[in-house]
Amino acid sequence: MASSAGRVAVYPGSFDPLTNGHVDIIERGVAIFDRIIVAILVNPDKSPLFTVDERLAMTRAVFRDQPGVEVDSFQGLLVHYAARREADVIVRGLRAISDFEFEMQMALMNRHLSSSLETVFMMPAEAYTYVSSRLVKEIFALGASVTGLVPELVEARLASKATGGAPGV
Ligand code: PNS
Repeated sequence: MASSAGRVAVYPGSFDPLTNGHVDIIERGVAIFDRIIVAILVNPDKSPLFTVDERLAMTRAVFRDQPGVEVDSFQGLLVHYAARREADVIVRGLRAISDFEFEMQMALMNRHLSSSLETVFMMPAEAYTYVSSRLVKEIFALGASVTGLVPELVEARLASKATGGAPGV
């Protein structure tokens, strides 16, 4: 349903933390859709590194100058959230063939649940095809630099978390 707000896309995910691959997809999405809602899943079954509030604050700070980007959190079924937000598109990034099987399953399940909701896959720049939140956390915890893989603000927050410092966002 294209509302008076134009074509709205939801970009759902864990974003624990936001990587430059996510940023790349969001920027590509803003160029296509009138508005893109970055929707951070509140998942009680996972133990994230960053709380949902921290992830919301970091992501909002990164996109504070981009009016086409909204950052929100959601619980429950994505299709219900998309309907509430009058979005007709789900955006997901596809980095490699290995992403494809799970992404196809999710896209088709979401279509089964809501036939009017379309999933659009976008490819990040080649430089980010190997970047994932999981690997960023892993290499950072083991002492490697994540410069260039995540926004500077996220890098600073990773560092302050590691040293038990104040949030700063
Ligand atoms: O960044 P992630 O962890 O790969 O994102 C997965 C996400 C949030 C898109 C997916 O887990 C999701 O949509 N969860 C909400 C619950 C839901 O709708 N599940 C059915 C998906 S087919």
